[in-house]
Amino acid sequence: MNDETDPPRRAAWFAANRRNWDDRADIHIRDETGFYGVERAARGETLLTPIELAEIGDLEGLRVAHLQCHIGTDTLALARLGAAEAAGLDFSPRAILHARDLARRSGLSGASFVEGDVYEAPALLGGGFDLAFVNWGAIGWLDDLDLWAQAVAGVLKPGGRLYFIDGHPTLMLFDGASAPEDPRVGFDYATPRETPLVSDEDSSYDGSSARIAHPRTHEWLHPVSRVLGALFKAGFRLDFLHEHEALAWRFFPRMIRGEDGLHRLPEGSKRLPLAWSFGATLTG
Ligand SMILES: C[S@@+](CC[C@H](N)C(=O)[O-])C[C@H]1O[C@@H](n2cnc3c(N)ncnc32)[C@H](O)[C@@H]1O
Repeated sequence: MNDETDPPRRAAWFAANRRNWDDRADIHIRDETGFYGVERAARGETLLTPIELAEIGDLEGLRVAHLQCHIGTDTLALARLGAAEAAGLDFSPRAILHARDLARRSGLSGASFVEGDVYEAPALLGGGFDLAFVNWGAIGWLDDLDLWAQAVAGVLKPGGRLYFIDGHPTLMLFDGASAPEDPRVGFDYATPRETPLVSDEDSSYDGSSARIAHPRTHEWLHPVSRVLGALFKAGFRLDFLHEHEALAWRFFPRMIRGEDGLHRLPEGSKRLPLAWSFGATLTG
């Protein structure tokens, strides 16, 4: 079964996910725990992680598309780093509403926000971007990475770049409730499209006390071959690929948050790759 023969089920999965993300956007903008640094972003701080800042390259004067931008804190950062245009796209209307409000409060003119499905990004944002930026917790919400890779290619100009960073596919195999010193495999490494991982988690990863009214989500674990294979098929060439022993969120409860805001495993743990990042250029 592929996406062409099964759009109703995708529509149902994504509609449930969208309700969940609307709830989370309302929770995250309140920023009870400071996880999203909303007030700091509004005041003008650039909140990308040190890994992203070291790898993303010079943004001066570039047109940047931030796909799955959530409440826009990182889109604002892209504008502050010199992008001539930072266009955020997200399918959650509440996330887009908060992102626009945050941009207005920050006084930044270079960031704009569009609501819609990432698969429709070329139609929604237009093409000709210099850089597509995809960070932390994005592709696990997508059932079809071929469609995603085509959409990323569709927003870029020929020779345009993709910068990607997310949780490492190896880490994602593990049950986050297990001990980091002795992690337990919780999932198959490649979720079939037809059988998403269904979850009913009623609290958000930002650690706030708020309950999520629509807890049901549908997610997919994508192995390295699926992510890179889809991008190669869409005409990308890999420029670099890095693995990191640090992550933007607390995957295991006993991870330790450093002064740089990144979470790491406690001493004595088996060393695991926690995040991966890569740059790719559209050659076609
Ligand atoms: C974990 S957040 C990404 C956070 C973002 N990287 C940041 O640091 O601000 C995932 C986002 O993906 C969005 N999303 C999920 N599925 C989507 C889809 N099919 N199209 C567009 N956005 C989607 C959600 O609304 C949510 O805002």
